[in-house]
Amino acid sequence: MGNGPDTRLIVPMENSREAALVSETHALAANNLQEVIYWLEEIEPLETVMDSQAELPEGRDQIPDFADVKGQESAKRALRVAAAGLHNVLLIGPPGGGKTMLARRMPSIMPAMSRDEVLETTRIYSVAGLLNAEHPLIDVRPFRAPHKNASSASIIGGGRVPRPGEISLAQNGVLFLDEFTEFNRDVLEALRQPLEDKLVTIARAQATCTYPANFSLIASCNPCPCGFFGSDLECTCTPPQIQKYLGRISGPLLDRMDLHVEIPRVNFEQLRDDSGSEGSASMRENVLQAREIQLKRFSRHKFKLNSQMRPADVKRFCRLDETSEALLKNAFDRLKMSARAYDRILKVARTIADLDNAADIKIQHLAEAMQYRSLDRKYWRN
Ligand SMILES: Nc1ncnc2c1ncn2[C@@H]1O[C@H](COP(=O)(O)OP(=O)(O)OP(=O)(O)O)[C@@H](O)[C@H]1O
Ligand SMILES: [Mg+2]
Repeated sequence: MGNGPDTRLIVPMENSREAALVSETHALAANNLQEVIYWLEEIEPLETVMDSQAELPEGRDQIPDFADVKGQESAKRALRVAAAGLHNVLLIGPPGGGKTMLARRMPSIMPAMSRDEVLETTRIYSVAGLLNAEHPLIDVRPFRAPHKNASSASIIGGGRVPRPGEISLAQNGVLFLDEFTEFNRDVLEALRQPLEDKLVTIARAQATCTYPANFSLIASCNPCPCGFFGSDLECTCTPPQIQKYLGRISGPLLDRMDLHVEIPRVNFEQLRDDSGSEGSASMRENVLQAREIQLKRFSRHKFKLNSQMRPADVKRFCRLDETSEALLKNAFDRLKMSARAYDRILKVARTIADLDNAADIKIQHLAEAMQYRSLDRKYWRN
């Protein structure tokens, strides 16, 4: 088939949505060859696959809503920031505070996938052999929640011919690791490189493959084996037990978590309070607005989100005024921060400013971003 103006693409009906996404021209869809023959003989027209058919069904009605969560306002705020800039979040707290409940509501505030994201993510699922006639496209933003006993190969990727793992299947979406401290140590450590590079390279004797791994990691855990360390209830663990438990999240891994959020137990009054907490619709609207700003800012770049900025981009797009600079310098020296933490704080501050529709990062944006890094002192360095 040539590429002239009369070129027509005819695809099977079940592939029509895929074709609408890929082709710039209008494709035609047929249920069988008979229909193609009728079309050629001008007896019966074929159905045209319009771009608009590539508009993606989102199935939003089935996704649970943040309005169900009582209290936990700061956790909801942190998840909004994470959704806006695709940052990583660590939720830590005693049993039953709503950590799992909160994380599972993350998809309700994420934007619909763009055409490029659909193509990119679909390609990964295709390599993993996860597409079929019923699911020819990945057009709903991934939310992957592998079990804590999952193998390194299934999470990071692997096999004789390396297949993409959960971190790649979460591309452009969320990877939720519930009970984070209970994952295999080698899995947790292997997350370090992809969390930094947003790519994963899997080397095997037969082949070496590199797959994308750009996702928001939402990790949740208790602060100790009994679950109550640091809460208003008595903790029955010994200090070495607590240290060993939290030590499963190494310093370098913790450093890659942009937002550390404490999830306290909700009290009775909060649970009984029906005055209504903010629902997903308005949170999502704010996220979409912050995404728009990022798209414009990075229109000449290959990447689209604040979390994807490299150090040179951070320098350019995350300028601080003198007072903010002094605040950050002080914290950097006092807390012996790493260069990575410094960059990550600035990226989060940029997202917070975008949610606020502010052209420049102001001191309140920076202060909020810094405050999300304060829990490691309470739990890890004591
Ligand atoms: N903030 C909240 N608002 C409303 N209901 C809540 C809240 N927190 C917990 N619940 C109720 O308690 C249940 C358990 O919450 P969830 O499983 O999210 O807790 P968790 O913090 O993940 O606990 P664990 O540490 O044991 O995993 C929820 O399904 C919900 O019914
Ligand atoms: Mg839980």
